[in-house]
Amino acid sequence: MTSTSTQRPRVLITRAVFPDVIARLSEHFDVESNQSDVNWTPAELVQRLQGKAGAFTTGSIAINAALLAQCPDLKICANMAVGYNNFDLDAMSAAGVLASNAPDVLTETTADFGFALMMAAARRVTESEHFLRAGQWKSWRYDMFAGAEIHGSTLGIIGMGRIGQGIARRGALGFGMQVVYHNRSRLDATTEADCKARYVSKEELLQTADHVVLVVPYSAASHHTIGAAELALMKTTATLTNIARGGIVDDAALAAALRDKRIAAAGLDVFEGEPNVHPDLLSVPNVVLTPHIASATMGTRRAMAMLAVDNLIGYLVHGKAVTPLNADRLVQQGTA
Ligand code: DGY
Repeated sequence: MTSTSTQRPRVLITRAVFPDVIARLSEHFDVESNQSDVNWTPAELVQRLQGKAGAFTTGSIAINAALLAQCPDLKICANMAVGYNNFDLDAMSAAGVLASNAPDVLTETTADFGFALMMAAARRVTESEHFLRAGQWKSWRYDMFAGAEIHGSTLGIIGMGRIGQGIARRGALGFGMQVVYHNRSRLDATTEADCKARYVSKEELLQTADHVVLVVPYSAASHHTIGAAELALMKTTATLTNIARGGIVDDAALAAALRDKRIAAAGLDVFEGEPNVHPDLLSVPNVVLTPHIASATMGTRRAMAMLAVDNLIGYLVHGKAVTPLNADRLVQQGTA
């Protein structure tokens, strides 16, 4: 959709969005949108971004130095996601391009989903459903799909940001779990008390938790936070849930651990190389697989989209984004 005015800043919406996102942006900008949700090649994305001052992006749209070099008019990329590993923040800052993400609005919804995925893995929900749908349920049996306890067990959370804290509160207050966590930096005492969470080393967490949940942002430093060595530390009865990002877990090593019953089960919403999924994960029964939907309720997705819109309007019209990621760096450089 392209309006005829050439006076106003131009904005590209890189993926299909709620129609009122286009309507709100069109009040201020000439908007080109991708409502047919075409998977543009990097070259097509560059071509469409040329002459645009703003981009509405999602986590699958990579913004890097090569792209920025060819899009000199770009001033802001507003991610409709809290995660922003699709942004090369150094390159964006060097090019004087503001990056923004969409934090907070998805915290509780994503924590709900993390908890649901953990429970589904522990209680073997999808594995038993497949059995039922396949017509294999012939009679009751004392140990049929017996899983792991949630209530009263130990929950280990790696990555204790807002979503991790939401999961901790659900576990401690709703299910009487003992909560241990590991994070780059320890939380203050008030937050620890609020979450009823105890700080431990990563090794202690892996050795003691009955259910390990990963909510750590992706970076080179967090790549393969969980691989064969970490899986070997876990209890054979434990579960592993990843709602963070693909690449935090070594998916091949996890599939092998699930196949060999070195851990009991896993719940995965994110994958290395998604939307492709490691074939070995597809063939093991003791894993619950979902297609990156942890924040997917209509209310939350709308709030995320509207926050990205607020960032575009805030920066391009009023000079100040709501949730910027590199504003300080642009100010320091004098490129804000
Ligand atoms: C996020 O916001 O980072 C979620 O993964 C949704 O994409």
